[in-house]
Amino acid sequence: MITIVRAHDYNDMSRKVANIISAQIILKPNCVLGLATGSTPIGAYQQLVEWYKKGDLDFSQVSSYNLDEYRGLTGDHPQSYRYFMDTNLFDHVNIDKSKTFVPDGMAEDYEAACAAYDAAVAAAGYPDLQLLGIGNNGHIGFNEPDDHFSRGTHLVDLTESTIEANSRLFDSIDEVPRQAFSMGVQTIMNAKMILVAANGEKKAQAVHDMCFGPITPSCPASILQLHTNTVLVADEEALSKCGELA
Ligand code: GLP
Repeated sequence: MITIVRAHDYNDMSRKVANIISAQIILKPNCVLGLATGSTPIGAYQQLVEWYKKGDLDFSQVSSYNLDEYRGLTGDHPQSYRYFMDTNLFDHVNIDKSKTFVPDGMAEDYEAACAAYDAAVAAAGYPDLQLLGIGNNGHIGFNEPDDHFSRGTHLVDLTESTIEANSRLFDSIDEVPRQAFSMGVQTIMNAKMILVAANGEKKAQAVHDMCFGPITPSCPASILQLHTNTVLVADEEALSKCGELA
């Protein structure tokens, strides 16, 4: 079931998402967060940092597992998701970095590394709250449209549309990695609560298909309809194709 929370714009979406994450940390100080990268959550992370600085939030017992990482980028590469998390959130709050996990983009024996990542998420009891963005094509994490839903953490060939969408953050499209490691859909579905953030007209079709389309791996986010506690916080533009449904 998906609960839809309407936001006016990006700032409103960000504050609402940050409020929900912050409530999770207050209710369970040692919670496990599943975290996401991309442009969408940046505003929410900024808001969390602000509340931390005011003394309203304490991350000292929180642990986190990120959804995905580009293959071939080291953690200090400015476009790696480890770097993103450090610079947008972890470096500014009192989280214990040794309890923050991001798939290793440089793993040589990547199958073993993926299995170890799954084992670690499972041993942590799966996220209490899993934050997700959504790709223009309905991907979650880097689970691209496919003919089946993925299970655990795995190597992904990125689609041309995702490479193009993400090229805005690189100097040129040729620098965008063609592969990534991503938590699988089954792992994502094991989170106790799923919080999807979406803004902008580019996400409108994916948001519609996620909430009201058939449940199909051609729109990976559509499986979230089967989760017992999915919350979507979306701005007016992202909800513009949902019409009266939302
Ligand atoms: C990226 C990430 C996803 C993210 C999505 C949307 O490729 N792998 O985790 O949710 O695409 O990104 P953005 O928020 O920049 O639109």
